[in-house]
Parts: sequence; C-alpha cells; structure tokens
Amino acid sequence: MDIEKQNIPCLITIFGATGDLSHRKLFPSLFHLYQQDNLNEKVAIIGVGRRDWSNEKFRSEIKLSIEKFVKDTHKLEDFLEHVFYQSHDVNLKESYDNLLQLSNELDNQFNLEGNRLFYLAMAPEFFGTVSDFLKSSGLTKVKGFKRLIIEKPFGTDLKSAEKLNTQLRKSFKEEEIYRIDHYLGKDMVQNIEVIRFSNAMFEPLWNNKYISNIQVTSSEILGVEDRGGYYDKSGALKDMVQNHMLQIVSLLAMEPPISLASEDVRNEKVKVLRAIRNIKPEHVRSYFVRGQYDEGVINGEPVQRYRDEDNVDPNSNTPTFVAAKVLIDNFRWAGVPFYIRTGKRMKEKEIRVVVEFKEVPMNLYYDRDKQLDSNLLVINIQPNEGIELHLNARKYIEGIDTEPIKLSYAMTAQDKMNTVDAYEGLIYDCLRGDSTNFTHWEELKATWGYVDTVANYWDEHPAPFPNYPAGSNGPIKSELLLSRDNFRWWDFN
Ligand code: BG6
Repeated sequence: MDIEKQNIPCLITIFGATGDLSHRKLFPSLFHLYQQDNLNEKVAIIGVGRRDWSNEKFRSEIKLSIEKFVKDTHKLEDFLEHVFYQSHDVNLKESYDNLLQLSNELDNQFNLEGNRLFYLAMAPEFFGTVSDFLKSSGLTKVKGFKRLIIEKPFGTDLKSAEKLNTQLRKSFKEEEIYRIDHYLGKDMVQNIEVIRFSNAMFEPLWNNKYISNIQVTSSEILGVEDRGGYYDKSGALKDMVQNHMLQIVSLLAMEPPISLASEDVRNEKVKVLRAIRNIKPEHVRSYFVRGQYDEGVINGEPVQRYRDEDNVDPNSNTPTFVAAKVLIDNFRWAGVPFYIRTGKRMKEKEIRVVVEFKEVPMNLYYDRDKQLDSNLLVINIQPNEGIELHLNARKYIEGIDTEPIKLSYAMTAQDKMNTVDAYEGLIYDCLRGDSTNFTHWEELKATWGYVDTVANYWDEHPAPFPNYPAGSNGPIKSELLLSRDNFRWWDFN
C-alpha cells in the first residue's frame, strides 16, 4: 500500500470472529496491516463469538490461521497481544454490557481515543439485532468515530434490504455504514477507473460509437462447498449478480467523476445503475439465462451435481449460473450490450472483462471478404491480473494480410506484494474513513430493484435443471444469448 500511513487508533470489534471469514481473511489482513505499520500500537481487536473460549485459546487459533495465510510472520507475537476474545450471545443484553466494559478498559489501556469499528462477519439474520444492541448498550456512544462494516448479503430482495437499512440507520448514519463488496477491493477492479480515466487513448472511444459490446465473466471451479444452506436460498443471481457483477458494470459504464472523492464517484455509479433498463417479467427469458450444474469432471476428478450437495434441496430450482444481457439507457451506452456471466463448477476460475470494439469501416487487406479480428481490451482481474490489447498487424503472404497480435501487461508478484488480500485494503479504507470502495445504500437500492423482477419470475417458473455439466462453460443458452446478436463470448484458454 503506498498511501501515506495514517496510524489511526481504533478498537476493532469483530462479530463472528471464530468463523471462516475471520480466519481466512480478516485476521491475516489485520495482522498484515499491523506488520506494515498501517495499524500501530494504539489498536485493540476484540473477537466476538459464541464459543466459550479464553483470550489464549482464541489467540492460538488466530495464530494458526495467520501462519497458514501469511508467509512472513515477524511481529506476530506483538500483534497477538492486541487481540482479545469475548464469548457472546447476540440476543442477550448482558453480553453487550460485558462487551462495553471490555471496550472501555481496552480504550484506556491502548489509548484508542474512543474510536470504534464494528465488523459484522456473522449470519445476516443477526445484523439488525446486533446493531440495535450496540446502540442500546451504549457501545456506539463514543468520543471518537464509530463505524460499522457489514458483510453481504444485505437483504434478500429490495424489501428486506430496505428493512435492514432502516434498522441499521437507527444506530449508524449512512456515512458510518461500510457495506462490503470484496470485489471492490480487488486491485484490478480498482484499476478499471484508472485505465479508463488516466489514458487519453481509451476515454474518447469509450462509448456506443466505437464499442460493440462489453463482457464481464466471473467463473469458478468451486461448487457450493459447505455453504449449501445459504446458497440454496440465494443462488448466483443474488450471490454474485446483484452485487459483484453489477458493481463491475457500474465502474465500466459510469461517467468520469469530477473528483475521486467517495461522493463524486458514488454519484456517477448510482446514476449509471439507475440507467440500467429494467426487465419486464415477460422479457426475462430474452435477457437472462440460468443454469444449474449437473455432475461432471473437473481436473480429471468426477464431481457431483448441485442437487446432491449437502444442505441443498434435491429438487432445487436455484441457479448456480447466470448470464445476462444488460442494457444501459443513456447517451453513452444506448445500443451497447453488457453481457455478464457467472457460475460455479465451471471450466476455469476467471474474472475478466472484455471490451470489444466495433469493426473498422472496411477491410483493405488480402481477403477483403474476411472479417477483421475485433480489437479487444481485456482486463484480467483474477487469477491473472493485468491488461491485454488485441490488435491486428501485418502478416506477409502474397498480398498483405493481417494477423491478430497481443500487447500485454501482467502484474508481477512484486506489484502484488503489498497486500495479502482485498480485505486488507478495505479495512484500511474504513479506518481512514474512505467509503469509495464500499456499496452505498442508493447502489443497493438500484441493483436489488433490477434483480428482484428476475428472481421473482424464476421463483414462479421452475427451470429444467440441471442443464450444464460441471467443468463446462455453462448452459448452451448462454452462447445463444450472444450469438443472437452476432457476438460470442471471448474465452482465451
Ligand atoms: C462471494 C460469494 O461473494 O464471492 C461466493 O458469496 C463466491 O459464492 C465468491 O464464491 C467469489 O469470490 P472470488 O473473489 O473468489 O471471485
């Protein structure tokens, strides 16, 4: 991280501290921030969980996770001295009274200047309850700042998201609520804005005059793992499209902000999300494709179908794949489809954006009837990180022909060394009070509004699932979605 270190004193309280996210992401990220001096001695972290653990037991568990996920562990013992544990029942007033007492003690001991950050990394049904108790117990009555980081899912539809938001707003102001979308913490997602707005060669072409379509893919090899219970109620539409996919679309499509201040960037994102054409129920089938994985083979190993996964209904109608054609009704994008595609148990792990440019007016070269290859700007987000520009260059045969060439830049391990994970940057942003890479309520409102129609239509019209084998690129209809418009998905592997 090359931003100036700010060393903000703070008490960080993590609800759900014994869970998977805390172990894999949050504590390794906090440790790395500490190790890099982005958190200093004036920090204390309380892990809150149901289990009846002591500080020592919690520290030893955290230590194991950190050693697993961070290579260089110097200063780990020092860091652990800032870590505490509180066994907690989210529905019990006494638990919050105890937490308040511990918080006040740590505030004095570590000189935290009354700054408090609460991180909800727990089952979403408790978000509202915890937030209410934080206020009624006096935990949010602070001398310094108070902030709330909240994990997804933020509601399961617009109505429940509104309800949750109203409840949170009783204890926190909008600017104190940091809704995580971990895609916004990814280096190459943050790079989209930089590529667009710091290069003279892209922005003039970034519109419906020169771009024919934009494709955003996020495919996973993994299935639902041990999250069947959650996933079967959510599915790819709510788990990925409503948040990560539409966030990437908004960054690709927004107008240049007047500055990089959170509010200016957000205003542009909200504007473009509102400009997405709402789908009428009778048009869902033309704009959206859903899929659910069948058994198949991945990396030579057989894998079971979705309906046989643990905690999944054997007749489940939940999509594990979604592709969609998103249209943005504004002057810049009218007529340019944004195709998005996401799925589990697919052929490869790939998060990628492809911007396809329109053809030149005519082919002057050898075979004039041949269509020239499209110019593409490819933004590789994960696991490869970098950009590629696909162009046409000279190929000598009897006449002059063209052949596609590729200019590419890949981020090196050196470039990536500074952070352990997207979460690290996001937590640091929150400590500094920078909400640019978090989801504002207005963005959520727009995306839930868009997705709800599709979800409702699908609930009412079950699909002939399963319809794609594990280890493939998804259902055939996903190819048809583009071929109908004379396009195709750009897959490079
Ligand atoms: C999460 C989803 O938000 O993103 C998961 O809940 C999904 O289902 C994950 O696996 C994908 O994240 P990434 O960073 O691996 O692409």
